[in-house]
Amino acid sequence: MNVLVLNGSPRKNGNTERLLSHVIAGIEEGSKAEGLSAPVVVREQIGGRLIHGCTACFACSRNSNMRCIQEDDCVNDIVAKMAVADAILIGSPTYFADLTPETKAIIDRCGFVVGGNGDFLRRKIGAAVVAVRRAGGIHAFDSINHFFLIKGMIVPGSTYWNIGVARDIGDADRDEEGVRTMKNLGLQIAWLHAKLAGK
Ligand SMILES: Cc1cc2nc3c(=O)[nH]c(=O)nc-3n(C[C@H](O)[C@H](O)[C@H](O)COP(=O)(O)O)c2cc1C
Repeated sequence: MNVLVLNGSPRKNGNTERLLSHVIAGIEEGSKAEGLSAPVVVREQIGGRLIHGCTACFACSRNSNMRCIQEDDCVNDIVAKMAVADAILIGSPTYFADLTPETKAIIDRCGFVVGGNGDFLRRKIGAAVVAVRRAGGIHAFDSINHFFLIKGMIVPGSTYWNIGVARDIGDADRDEEGVRTMKNLGLQIAWLHAKLAGK
């Protein structure tokens, strides 16, 4: 299984990154249990990079060449990685009860390129992961899931919504239920991939 993991936090080794790592550990364990080969995981640091917003030029729909016309940031590279992924994890910390701007820019830009190119994310697996200090995490979680669902992706559940409660770097590892939720999410993703692959 090819897994693309996008970390929307500007803190490279922060809580979102830790939570995503727990999901990956679950996918690895679940892949073994399902008799799948080890997952190929590609991690991309989105947060902290300069990523332009969508300019609503609609060139991606006119050109249908799997590219955004803005070539001076990482978006087209991410689009190409999305195209070959079986599962896409998007993680973001909660910023004012929503996503980081970098995560939102990826969703807007990639979302339009995907729409202008035959909705190629259809039936891939999508999972949102969110770090939150106190409140607004569910809204950020919903924002990511809106992207997956409008693109026809399949969104597995876990044993709670995929949110880790954390403030300072490292807190996420101490949120025992959050860690368990991420691990279980990974197991679910592996199980679902096995079913989709006819295993
Ligand atoms: C600009 C900014 C806005 C934030 N807004 C919220 C918020 O609305 N609700 C909340 O509970 N935490 C908020 N936080 C805290 C982060 O979500 C929290 O510290 C999280 O664990 C950071 O994850 P990271 O280490 O992956 O960056 C905010 C942090 C920053 C820097």
